[in-house]
Amino acid sequence: MKQHAGWALPDLKAAQIRTKQESPVYREQFILNEELRALGKGKYYFLRTYGCQANERDGESIAGILEMMGFTQTKNAEDADLILLNTCAVRKNAEDKALGELGSLKRLCKEKPNLIFGMCGCMAQEEEIVRTVVEKYPHVDLIFGTHNIHSLPKLLYQVMMSHERSIEVFSKEGEIVENLPVKRFGVYKAWVNIMYGCDKFCTYCIVPYTRGKERSRTMTDVLSEVQTLKKQGYKEVTLLGQNVNSYGKDLHLEGGFARLLEECAKTGIPRIRFMTSHPWDFSNEMIEVIARYDNIMPFIHLPVQSGDNDILKIMGRRYTIEQYKALFDALRNKIPHCAFSTDIIVGFPNESEEQFQHTLDLVEYCHFDNAYTFIYSPREGTPAARMSDNVAMAVKQDRLQRLNEVVNRHANERNAAYLHRIVKVLVDGPSKKNPNIYSGYTETNKLVNFANEGAKSGDIISVRITACKTWSLDGEVVKEK
Ligand code: SAH
Ligand code: SF4
Ligand code: F3S
Repeated sequence: MKQHAGWALPDLKAAQIRTKQESPVYREQFILNEELRALGKGKYYFLRTYGCQANERDGESIAGILEMMGFTQTKNAEDADLILLNTCAVRKNAEDKALGELGSLKRLCKEKPNLIFGMCGCMAQEEEIVRTVVEKYPHVDLIFGTHNIHSLPKLLYQVMMSHERSIEVFSKEGEIVENLPVKRFGVYKAWVNIMYGCDKFCTYCIVPYTRGKERSRTMTDVLSEVQTLKKQGYKEVTLLGQNVNSYGKDLHLEGGFARLLEECAKTGIPRIRFMTSHPWDFSNEMIEVIARYDNIMPFIHLPVQSGDNDILKIMGRRYTIEQYKALFDALRNKIPHCAFSTDIIVGFPNESEEQFQHTLDLVEYCHFDNAYTFIYSPREGTPAARMSDNVAMAVKQDRLQRLNEVVNRHANERNAAYLHRIVKVLVDGPSKKNPNIYSGYTETNKLVNFANEGAKSGDIISVRITACKTWSLDGEVVKEK
């Protein structure tokens, strides 16, 4: 930890350290006294979350804490007494968006001198960013990181009482705090953390530095959360981890993620999803379990990153394209109706045209239902950021466009196969544009729009597909006989 003016500042080098020590689990870490419970009475908070589902889920804890302190949520930054940006550091454009908002909301501080402005999330774990914010954004009063969400009441108290900046970011391996409150933003769909952090250290990626070491929640804690959600009427849970396949390794849990997945399926909750699976340690047992249980959804996000073995090696991904294809084939054989999505980075340092071509070949082989495609973005402190790079930005942009053309063609083809089929849809609710048109997702994670005939949010209904687009399907409700 770096100290400055009584603050605890992030330190990327310290964030890199991994020891063999077990991560502590705290069950009574979060306590609020009467004074803290009254601190936000009559006050409004505005929370914006960027980035991945892990950050979304953190946002739900932050909201839970603030509401326990008496704050009320507002969707309108103008009405807020507290503005919090829960940020993402995965690529430069994610950072630019948050910094842009940090700048544009500054005007509100002039209008409201008591407004508290805070930043948290993965950017708060970055040395350079915190330094920039301290120097160039004097209106930011509060900065805390991903390891100390539970300190939010204490830090807010300091800012509100002393009217001085409060910054506390820890660069440590991390712990597990089990008793944080949560305000779930979904009514029928819920995120469930099964593990935190990442130890893969892919050479381009900042996440292991911002989120700490891989640490799993106990199976009892995860299962009891899933059971509670089921009792509360939730229809779908998504089990979250940067690499869910590693679940339980730190606990020496026999059976690992396959066993957790099976136990979750046995709770009988209608839909289970999971995110993200690293191809490296996707076990045969996992494939068997996914195939065996109807309530484990046939949709797998399996990031490949590149189709070239040399690039994969430099990325530190620990698999070859042959291994990826073998896994992909095994999944498709065992679960023929399964849908697949992936993540791909183009323009990794020194990627040649031929190497990029290998990525296109892989995409042609897999015919993904969806792919999230990115231009490589150097992240300070990671090994890839220290590599020289001979690929011009215009070339990277051209590759991204060529890749997206293939991805879109496949998405379109995969959706076209749904025409006239009857699918099960978990109804989300009316669409924003037209209250008579409802939308929801199939088991394979396809968005379906349909004219509603009495279905309610949270229902699982049968829909016949009548038209297929690249990123959505249209359908009509099948009447029960
Ligand atoms: N744990 C997940 C990924 C989380 S980050 C996994 O391994 O699958 C989500 C995606 O962002 C990654 O899969 C990768 O494709 C992309 N990404 C990560 N770092 C990046 C960088 N420096 N530049 C561009 N894309 C990046
Ligand atoms: Fe990043 Fe790799 Fe960990 Fe995913 S597995 S979070 S890409 S380091
Ligand atoms: Fe972004 Fe942090 Fe998630 S960097 S992708 S919010 S883990």
